[in-house]
Amino acid sequence: VGEFGVMVRPYQPGDEVGIAEAHRRSIHELCSKDYAPEQIADWGGARIKPERYVESITKNSEKFFVLDDSGTIGGFAGWFGEEIQGFYMHPEYVGKGWGRKLFQVAETDFWQATQHPICTIISTITAKLFYEKMGYKVVSPYVRTFRSGVSLDCWKMEKQRPA
Ligand SMILES: CC(C)(COP(=O)(O)OP(=O)(O)OC[C@H]1O[C@@H](n2cnc3c(N)ncnc32)[C@H](O)[C@@H]1OP(=O)(O)O)[C@@H](O)C(=O)NCCC(=O)NCCS
Repeated sequence: VGEFGVMVRPYQPGDEVGIAEAHRRSIHELCSKDYAPEQIADWGGARIKPERYVESITKNSEKFFVLDDSGTIGGFAGWFGEEIQGFYMHPEYVGKGWGRKLFQVAETDFWQATQHPICTIISTITAKLFYEKMGYKVVSPYVRTFRSGVSLDCWKMEKQRPA
């Protein structure tokens, strides 16, 4: 998917610094409206390290896509197992339809590469309305707890494989 030099493409080695930057800024500038400062500090703090994406992509064979604006990472989305996970947009790229494009590439890849009848997402409060627009329905509340003990109220959401 390409437009005006912006495109969605698979992860390439070297993207991880831009991914970490988009991730950190997304948490601090977008999710901060829905979560407490202590939660944001932990979630968007020292745990965000470029090498951790490389690790999960190579070791877990996680599928990962990025929004590439002539070298700037505008967002990323991946899937692993039965879940789409790690979908964050750089704050300067939100509200322009790019999130939908990026998400659709990851989701299409998920349906094509797996046989799973259902796609699961653990959604932040921040992204719940976005996922509802993408056809996902809330199954239950879900609490995501980090090793630090800090936890985040989230929503478990699901969508059926399209016919
Ligand atoms: C949620 C997020 C990915 C949306 O990205 P985006 O690029 O702004 O999305 P788009 O511009 O493609 O929007 C697609 C549609 O969703 C809607 N939408 C997006 N975010 C929304 C929100 N927070 N509330 C309501 N609607 C929203 C848009 O209005 C648009 O609808 P339309 O086509 O009817 O106009 C982005 O805001 C984000 O990264 N949030 C913070 C990180 C996060 O919480 N990630 C989820 C981890 S599970």
